[in-house]
Amino acid sequence: MNAVIDLLKSHRSIRKFTERKIEPELLAELFAAGQGAATSSFLQGATIIRVTKPEVRAQIADLAGKQAYVESAAEFMVFCADLKRPGNYCAAYDMPFEGDYTEHFIIATVDVALMAQSLVAAAESVGLGICYIGGIRNNPGPVSKLLGLPRGVYPVFGLCLGYPDQNPEVKPRLPLSVIVKQEVYNEDGDAEVIAEYDEKIKEYYRTRTGGGHGITWTRQVATLLSEKSRPHMKSFLAEQGFAFK
Ligand SMILES: Cc1cc2nc3c(=O)[nH]c(=O)nc-3n(C[C@H](O)[C@H](O)[C@H](O)COP(=O)(O)O)c2cc1C
Repeated sequence: MNAVIDLLKSHRSIRKFTERKIEPELLAELFAAGQGAATSSFLQGATIIRVTKPEVRAQIADLAGKQAYVESAAEFMVFCADLKRPGNYCAAYDMPFEGDYTEHFIIATVDVALMAQSLVAAAESVGLGICYIGGIRNNPGPVSKLLGLPRGVYPVFGLCLGYPDQNPEVKPRLPLSVIVKQEVYNEDGDAEVIAEYDEKIKEYYRTRTGGGHGITWTRQVATLLSEKSRPHMKSFLAEQGFAFK
């Protein structure tokens, strides 16, 4: 339809990168593009920590579940939700700090995601590949310590960036009729098209894993939601000052 829409529709995560570095001028442009995203109440509640030291990268790769591309990507950065920076001004203006409401947590986390995705779209538009790293939340405490994150700041996800050394297929998404509903929530007609989609995903995985596991989407998500997921996050967030009020 147009170049931007085509680009967004051709996203796929990249997990193998060449050794080519990203030029500093380009990197600065990507950060600025990320900053261009909308920000709730103009809070600007996101901070990016760029990690360049190989030994720190190696530790984070390990803490994130031995994800080697955290080390091998040209760039690795951690996107943090940051209520500390705006919160500083409560004290400065002699106002109480009430930044530990669930609503503030949502605001800052959404800001982070929007900023990251704008940066990602900019990066992909110049031929870079990316992979988000939610795996850092396997060990958010040690990761936060390595990054020197104070109270009021928490690591939402990491991001690997670099020039792709692989060319994976685009991973098919759910049919639009399942995702976009008219006027009210409903699941009309979903079961049938999701069954067809399951076959598509099974085939996608079979091809990608060289004939290996061909799991369906429904089984994959059911498995995910039938298991405990990072149960430490609740207490970790409370310790970082994101106590839910
Ligand atoms: C917030 C977030 C965290 C993610 N964390 C990881 C991760 O730790 N490791 C990884 O290999 N992929 C990770 N991914 C990538 C997803 O697995 C991937 O986006 C999804 O399977 C769809 O594939 P695609 O990006 O190729 O379209 C993450 C994606 C998002 C949005």
